[in-house]
Amino acid sequence: MSDAAFLPKAVLVTGGAGFIGSNFVRFVLKDVPDVRVVNLDCLTYAGNLENLADVADDPRYAFAKVDICDTDKVIEVCREYHVDSVVHFAAESHVDRSITGPGEFIRTNVHGTLSVLQAARACGDLRFLQVGTDEVYGSLGETGYFTEETQLDPHSPYSASKTAADHLVSAFYHTYGLSTLITRCSNNYGPYQFPEKMVPLMINNARQDKALPVYGDGLNVRDWLYVEDHCRALWAVLLRGRVGRVYNIGGNSEKTNIEVVKAILKHVDKPESLITFVKDRPGHDQRYAIDATRIRTELGWEPSVDFETGMSKTIDWYMANQAWMDRVTSGAYQTYYEEMYAGR
Ligand code: NAD
Ligand code: DAU
Repeated sequence: MSDAAFLPKAVLVTGGAGFIGSNFVRFVLKDVPDVRVVNLDCLTYAGNLENLADVADDPRYAFAKVDICDTDKVIEVCREYHVDSVVHFAAESHVDRSITGPGEFIRTNVHGTLSVLQAARACGDLRFLQVGTDEVYGSLGETGYFTEETQLDPHSPYSASKTAADHLVSAFYHTYGLSTLITRCSNNYGPYQFPEKMVPLMINNARQDKALPVYGDGLNVRDWLYVEDHCRALWAVLLRGRVGRVYNIGGNSEKTNIEVVKAILKHVDKPESLITFVKDRPGHDQRYAIDATRIRTELGWEPSVDFETGMSKTIDWYMANQAWMDRVTSGAYQTYYEEMYAGR
């Protein structure tokens, strides 16, 4: 059972220049009529406005270069565009970076989330969707699944910061009655992912005949979900999720890392001799697996793209968009904002 559907008119998307955020902005503009999308992003190394070049001139789209930690600016943007809801993606998202530099993860993921929550309250209790991760649940052995009731047990500075953010969102629901929703999704893959993450990194290395660095024994398991399916799930939760609830989102598609890497090599017709086993990630979670019963039964959402189809579409996209990849790896993408937005 869910609350009556909420009908957004103007959605603030924080972190809309990143991987999932940009796919979400495109999804809403293409699939949902009559909704304005405001992308608020400060363009860290992970923010790339070229991800949205094809929709930049859509009259329903606006971009604001703002840091989520600047509450007054976030409020200003929400008021300017009469925002009625927030989908909060903006975060530091890479586990390896959190191990070498945890401070930025606390600033963005904890203080930043608090700041956006305060802005949501100040603007008349906007509906607030926290885009969370399954990593807050910790690690599974060979059996079992994460449900929404699984105890939170984060192991990396990244997942600890996302856990703190989820707790803040929950506190704003209980203390101030803010209309909050939390999702916790498994690993996404698809177009526009920054090539520090495993899938685009491996595709990019394979195309250049470089070594594919697999951590440890390669037997860690992730549950892979095609990014557009995640976007559809988020939209369903924003409209029809029960306020105050958590919704797990998963691909029902568990693979070991070595299986994923071999699938990529096979697709691009490159030899498995490119695989190189390297030192393991410290505190490397062994297995994530999602029980998505709640979102399926309450909201009717299911993944629509299976792993083979999604991976094939993803690899084909990176192969057809090598110029995008080359501009990311050379750093050229970081001048795009100045070139396109200067004087606007
Ligand atoms: P990403 O790193 O690709 O993008 C993050 C975006 O946030 C970038 O555009 C960046 O510029 C922006 N940002 C960072 N700090 C900011 C700040 N202080 N102010 C404004 N903008 C800022 O991340 P992603 O992989 O697209 O993940 C998006 C969200 O989804 C994150 O909250 C992440 O925890 C969550 N999530 C990701 C996955 C996944 O598989 N990638 C799975 C589950 C949940
Ligand atoms: O589960 C959801 C999470 O998935 C999100 O919350 C994170 O934001 C997102 O980055 C992702 O985290 P992972 O750590 O699972 O993703 P990553 O692509 O970094 O790594 C996937 C697996 O591949 C993991 O077991 C580590 C391994 N790996 C990763 C890299 C970058 C390698 O073996 N070699 C590599 O070079």
